[in-house]
Amino acid sequence: MAKNYTNRELSARYPTDLPAWKKLATHFRDDMRDATLRELFARDKKRAGKFELQSGDLTLDYSKNHLTATTRKMLTQLARQADVPAAIEAMFAGDAINKTEGRSVLHVALRAKIADTVALETPGVSEVWEVLTKMESFVERVHSGEIKGSTGKKLSDIVNIGIGGSDLGPVMASRALRTYWKDGMRFHSVSNVDGTQLHDLIRELDPESTLFVVCSKTFTTLETMTNANAARTWIIEQLDELAVQYHFVAASTNHAAMDEFGIRSDFRFGFWDWVGGRYSLWSAVGLSLALVVGMDSFKAVLSGGRRMDLHFRQSPLDENMPVLLALIGIWYNNFFGAQSQAILPYDNRLDRFPAYLQQLQMESSGKSVRMDGKPVRCDTGMIIWGEAGNNAQHSFYQLLHQGTRLVPVDFLLSESSALATANCEAQAEALMNGTSDDDIEPYRVHAGNRPSNTIHYRKMTPEVLGQLIALYEHKVFIEGVIWGIDSFDQWGVELGKRLANERILSRGE
Ligand code: F6P
Repeated sequence: MAKNYTNRELSARYPTDLPAWKKLATHFRDDMRDATLRELFARDKKRAGKFELQSGDLTLDYSKNHLTATTRKMLTQLARQADVPAAIEAMFAGDAINKTEGRSVLHVALRAKIADTVALETPGVSEVWEVLTKMESFVERVHSGEIKGSTGKKLSDIVNIGIGGSDLGPVMASRALRTYWKDGMRFHSVSNVDGTQLHDLIRELDPESTLFVVCSKTFTTLETMTNANAARTWIIEQLDELAVQYHFVAASTNHAAMDEFGIRSDFRFGFWDWVGGRYSLWSAVGLSLALVVGMDSFKAVLSGGRRMDLHFRQSPLDENMPVLLALIGIWYNNFFGAQSQAILPYDNRLDRFPAYLQQLQMESSGKSVRMDGKPVRCDTGMIIWGEAGNNAQHSFYQLLHQGTRLVPVDFLLSESSALATANCEAQAEALMNGTSDDDIEPYRVHAGNRPSNTIHYRKMTPEVLGQLIALYEHKVFIEGVIWGIDSFDQWGVELGKRLANERILSRGE
């Protein structure tokens, strides 16, 4: 039984009542609101090195932000006063920090090693390695051709059917790791409910070599079940009824529904209620990814995630990358009043990473009631948006450079492309410095003073991807701890789902 997380541990006090919050408000008003980034760099020639942090393969340059060493100190005091260290330990211990659903939050257990002793007594945790072994054997047998389609053809086209966390993770990661795809394997995905994706996709597919991976924690989600049933009908039409057993596997927690669908027991991959949808890529929901990139690469993603977990658990707050990103986010959100944040990867392989982070951050932090049931007294989740960098430059950067709103940016930079690096660095500089020429027409002026983080890495690898995802997962968690919200529930999506189901039933569809 997961330990009940008490209100004290949940930061019972409003963050706005904490002494550090009050100090930050004064510091903002007196020292920071009007200080420009150019001034901060002019005041301290060594600034760049002082606001840079390394963790594993990732380097975070946060020097181009409206903060000083004093700001950082006050922000880490805020984290301490909000009981962030205790909250981190509570997560790894398996306490029920998802209070509204009474659940532990243990995606970290999915990438842990036994020696990490992550909540080993929590039901299901000791089964993690069993499922991983079952996935490994399945993936290898598909690759070797031992597991075949119903007519004996090798399975080469993997179609992930899911939505939300059961889609965004596999889709984002398979694109990020395109260079790691095994010869002959192809990844496809279907998520939307209107049927067009599946319709277009099956025109290109050979049913004999297609394997559908139905990913749904609940196995009841309307979109997923509509698509899975349509795919099932297609397989029966093209092959026969028996073929369903060869061409469908599932990642789910709902065995009764998998029975009804006809998923055979050795083609089922389970996970547990302590894995949230948006954190499920690390679980059996990663099966479609593992089938395409191979188990070694999938395990390398897990080990990247673990590497970030160790950093997160062991580093002091002011040298802790996820904690710092969270605090910088709070600084802009709650003190500068920024409403949105742009995620701009200068790495085309990460083109779906902004969409992935939209769910991770907005489903986690889009809350206006605290865990103690009381309304929040400050803004919570920012609106997250973004696009691969160069495409974005030719699309919405106009607003970033000359619009009226403050939009803090996270650049994600793969140093493997010299052109991408030059573009990313140029944009960060232009946002910060703007133009210094006084004689130009007003419409040409770039005021600058616009903040950004740059997270850079040598090249995209499975390990790097794992570190990046875990970095943002923990960032979101820490913001939630400070605001006192439950970052792991998603009640806000339930009403719309229920109303849609009622309409469908009343139409007899
Ligand atoms: O729409 C909300 C949500 O519950 C997400 O959190 C989740 O990722 C998605 O639906 C899919 O749910 P399932 O995996 O149960 O089909």
